[in-house]
Amino acid sequence: MRIMAGIDIGGTKCAVSLGVAVSDQIEIIAKRRFATLAEPLANVARLLSELEELLAEHASRGELAAIGISCGGPLDSAAGLILSPPNLPNWSRIDVVSPFRERFAVPVGLQNDANACALAEWQWGAGRGSRNLIFLTFGTGMGAGLILDGRLYSGASDMAGEVGHIRLEPTGPTGYGKAGSFEGFCSGGGIAELGRSLAAQMFAEGQSPSFCSEPERLAEITAEAIGEAAKRGEADAVGIFQTVGRKLGSGLALLVDILNPDCIVIGSIYGRQQALLEPIMLEALGCEALPLSLSVCRIVPAGLKENVGDYAGLSVALHQLATA
Ligand code: BGC
Ligand code: NA
Repeated sequence: MRIMAGIDIGGTKCAVSLGVAVSDQIEIIAKRRFATLAEPLANVARLLSELEELLAEHASRGELAAIGISCGGPLDSAAGLILSPPNLPNWSRIDVVSPFRERFAVPVGLQNDANACALAEWQWGAGRGSRNLIFLTFGTGMGAGLILDGRLYSGASDMAGEVGHIRLEPTGPTGYGKAGSFEGFCSGGGIAELGRSLAAQMFAEGQSPSFCSEPERLAEITAEAIGEAAKRGEADAVGIFQTVGRKLGSGLALLVDILNPDCIVIGSIYGRQQALLEPIMLEALGCEALPLSLSVCRIVPAGLKENVGDYAGLSVALHQLATA
C-alpha cells in the first residue's frame, strides 16, 4: 500500500503522521508529537528523524508515496519556504521541502495550515461534495483555506485566505495582527485578550470575574478558562462569547458576499462552543450578508473535529501526488 506522511509544524507542537489512503478514506496508522524547537534547523532535523523512525517501524504496511507539510503562513509553497510566521519567531525563509525531498526521494508539498485543513475537510470531513468551500481555522490564530470551483485557490503570492488580518473595527483585540482584526476577535489569543480587558475593568469596579480569581493573575487568563466559565453559564464569560460570535458573523458575511461559497467549515473553538456561538453568528450573518448568497451556504463545525490538524499534512501529500 501507498503510505502518505503528514507533517504539521505549529507554534507549540509538531506532529508527524503516517496514513494509508483506502478508496476515499484515509486511515492514520501512526503519529508522533514533540514540542516545537526554537531553532528551526534543529526542528527540521528532528522532523526528518521522527519520520525516518516511524517509516522503519511501519515498513510492513507499504512504501512512502508522498509527504505533505502544513504550517501557519506566510509561506511560499512553490519555493518550499516558510517565510516568517508570527507564531514561529525564529523562523525566516526556512527551506523545509528540499531536506525531505533529498532524504526520502518522493514528492513533497508545503501548504498554509488553513489551506491544508480545507483540503482535509473537503476530502474526508464536513466539506465533502462541496465545490466552493471555505475553511476557517479559529484556533490559536484565524486563517482561511479556499476551495473555489473545485480547486485550492492560493492567490498570486500564496497569501489568499489571510482573512485574520481583515479589520472589523478600528480598535480592539489584536491576535497576531492588527487591533480590531478578525483574528483579534476570533482566535484563542483574541478571546484571552477580551477576557483580560473585561477582568481588569471588573476588578477596578470591585467585582470578581468568573474566570480569574485575582488581579495578579490577569496575564494567566486563557481562552479555555473563559470557555469553561461560559459553558457553566457565567454571564461575564457568556458575554465575551457573544461578542466573538457577533464578530464571527461579520467576518463570515464579508466572505459570503465576496466568494458565494456553498459550505463554510469552522475548526477548533467553533466545534467546542457551537451552542453559544452559532445563534449570534447567524443573527449577524442574517443582518450583514446577502440573502441569496447566505441561503445556499451551509455553515458547519469541522467533521474531523480536533484531529483536523493530523489530516492536514496527509491531504497535502495526496494533493501533491495529484498535482505533481
Ligand atoms: C496566519 C495564517 C494562519 C492562521 C492560522 C494566522 O495568524 O496569518 O497564515 O493560517 O494564523 O494558523
Ligand atoms: Na490560507
